[in-house]
Amino acid sequence: MTTITVKADKPGARINPAMWGIFFEDINFGADGGLYPELIKNRTFEFPEPLMGWTKICPSLARGEISIREDDPFDPANPRHVRMLSEGTAPFGFSNEGFRGIGVREGEAYHLSALVRGVAGSPVLLGQLYGADGSVLDSVTLGGFSSKWKKFTARLRPNATDAKARLALLVEGKGALDLDHVSLFPEKTWQNRPGGLRADLVQMLADLKPGFLRFPGGCIVEGSVLERRYQWKKTIGPIEDRRLLVNRWNYEFLHRPTPDYFQSFGLGFFEFFQLCEDIGAEPLPILNCGMACQFNSGELVPLDQLDPFIQDALDLIEFANGPATNLWGAKRAALGHPEPFHIKMLGVGNEQWGEQYLERYARFAKVLKEKYPEIALVSAAGPSPADERFHFLWPRLRELRTDIVDEHCYANPVWFFANAHRYDDYDRNGPKVFMGEFAAQSVALVSPKNRNNLECALAEAAYMTGLERNADVVRMASYAPLFAHVDAWQWTPNLIWCDNLRVYGTPSYYVQQLFSRNRGDVVLPVELTEVELHAAPSGGVGLGTFQTAVEFKDVHVTRGDKTLLRSDFANGASEWSGADRRWAVRDGAYQQTEPTGLARVFAGDTSWSDYTLSLKARKLAGAEGFWVIVRQMGPENYILWNLGGRNNQCHILQFRLGQQDQLVSQAPGTIAAGRWYDVKVELKGAKLNCYLDGKLVQSAEVLPPRVQALYASAVRDETAGELILKVVNPGDAPRVAGIQISGVASVASEILASELTGAGLDAGNSFEHPLAVAPVESKFNAGGPQFNYRFPQHSLTVLRIKTR
Ligand code: AHR
Repeated sequence: MTTITVKADKPGARINPAMWGIFFEDINFGADGGLYPELIKNRTFEFPEPLMGWTKICPSLARGEISIREDDPFDPANPRHVRMLSEGTAPFGFSNEGFRGIGVREGEAYHLSALVRGVAGSPVLLGQLYGADGSVLDSVTLGGFSSKWKKFTARLRPNATDAKARLALLVEGKGALDLDHVSLFPEKTWQNRPGGLRADLVQMLADLKPGFLRFPGGCIVEGSVLERRYQWKKTIGPIEDRRLLVNRWNYEFLHRPTPDYFQSFGLGFFEFFQLCEDIGAEPLPILNCGMACQFNSGELVPLDQLDPFIQDALDLIEFANGPATNLWGAKRAALGHPEPFHIKMLGVGNEQWGEQYLERYARFAKVLKEKYPEIALVSAAGPSPADERFHFLWPRLRELRTDIVDEHCYANPVWFFANAHRYDDYDRNGPKVFMGEFAAQSVALVSPKNRNNLECALAEAAYMTGLERNADVVRMASYAPLFAHVDAWQWTPNLIWCDNLRVYGTPSYYVQQLFSRNRGDVVLPVELTEVELHAAPSGGVGLGTFQTAVEFKDVHVTRGDKTLLRSDFANGASEWSGADRRWAVRDGAYQQTEPTGLARVFAGDTSWSDYTLSLKARKLAGAEGFWVIVRQMGPENYILWNLGGRNNQCHILQFRLGQQDQLVSQAPGTIAAGRWYDVKVELKGAKLNCYLDGKLVQSAEVLPPRVQALYASAVRDETAGELILKVVNPGDAPRVAGIQISGVASVASEILASELTGAGLDAGNSFEHPLAVAPVESKFNAGGPQFNYRFPQHSLTVLRIKTR
């Protein structure tokens, strides 16, 4: 039987009180259209298409004209405004569609405001809120305009709830008006702050009891080009002065374009600090380090021009922490917060990599550490948790003595299950780890088909037991991304989904919540028996190419005298799967003739082990060499020998699991075009020997992914005097485990159990069933420090046990 022994008398590492936190980025309408509840889209007419979001209303008795002007603006930072000229006998104007509709609730108050200047005549302005079906929900008339800009306000109280309302603004009476900064804002916001955040969404964050809040991203920090990077100084002060910026997620994905996505910065850096304070989270600001997103332009600020970027970081620290008497502290005080926000950490760059990052990080660190040695610096480690970019950076970051390294991972659930022990062997004396972005992907990274299901949540939970167990190294962790609007997302999965009125947490949300609310103060060792699911080092074979046209022939797989596969391509290639139109058999060879993209074909059986694969390969054209695949267990699970990789500079042995590559080893070498190479890979148990033209080039031992029937970790909550045990059972059947709490005299009779499970691995939550997968609490009497517990299939269970 499986046993779980918790050594209550052997406390280990202390857990960072800020261990489990939140990653916020304005993606998927996370800020504008989400947490920042302005209901008017393009309120300042500063979108490149000045009337985007606005629709002209001109019934036949109306006559008029809408023009965009910049003369004598209210604020030169946002100079554009609209002139509405009405010359007919019926009201003339336009309506705003909001962020995929305007969400309003019956009887609640909404503040309508606009900057208005009278231009001709003395018309009035009608503000009318319409439901999706055209019924008027409420209306108001504004008048008495002068030739000077003035803010006019009114309150609307809709007579029905509607998620897709519209606001019409109509000029009644002949004449002309100038209009700018049109706003409709709910009165009911978080803490009822005027212009404050969307209350139900903040409540979801507060309910997580987050240890920290990372802001503002994410790639949004970097910008696709430097000009469009996030600049914190432009996000504070009067709302009217905050300059609009196109959101990088507006155009990032051609399969999810969002042409109406811009950043108004209504949720700026002051609001971020205030939010942290409200929900008790440590602020973790991330700043641009002089690099634009390396997935886009990768634009760089020359090293000798980096000073203004470093100055921005110094000023941010002063804005947050400085006394109200100094320059930036005074700006904070003027915004209504004389007390400092006490930031303790700062991120330098987001998801950067390469030498260019190190050079820039080093310059930031030198200045920041000299002036603010108490501020912990978070440095980037690239976008993947084990690829060559990661392995290049880590040792150098260690040399640079960075405080915390920000690791990211988006991968299939199998990766998270297999990496629950990732940190067990990490260097205890090096920089600490911030698992700053992670989320299990049910299909593939950036696939719109990804679902927030129970399987992903359990994979994250299993992985988090490993983060918790290694709390001396892993000091913080956050799921990413955070929010998504169901009608306006670019990226999935996400932690929290909303529409204009509703919100629900995903199974992953409840996993984060269970860990955060049961954080504890100190790690307790846990011993598990009979949980290892021993996988054999086995799998089929494959051929592949990257940016290269290649032909393969004489593919043999043998075990001793036995032939497992013989492909001489005399009669086609029917034993190979995964081929697309680029693959064809010609002249006894299997050819992939396009020197672009990535191509792979597979053959054989997942049970094959201890075999020798031999083949001949010839490069026809292109940038690299060819791929030889062994131990293929699935489309994203295999060992790859990449000959002539990295622009034909080396041969690379790597292990691919759940869409992530783990570098095993690399050797110098190139592949020439036009000549046949003899390739051989021998497998003996977990060992591999890789030969090119009869010469041993690389050998390694690659253990199969380590997966378990149960995952567990434990902590002690010193204030509550409780031991907290977290157990994940990803399996298809309930599992009874014998639990032993060693080193305690007794346990209290009542144990609190929180179980998170659902109707199958694909189960998830929705607006209709927001708690289908959510923790359910119960109490039981264990009768002593040794008891059995039946962990439900597909579950995360948290037991809180009072001990003496
Ligand atoms: O979380 C979505 C994106 O993933 C983040 O912006 C970026 O840091 C990562 O690539």
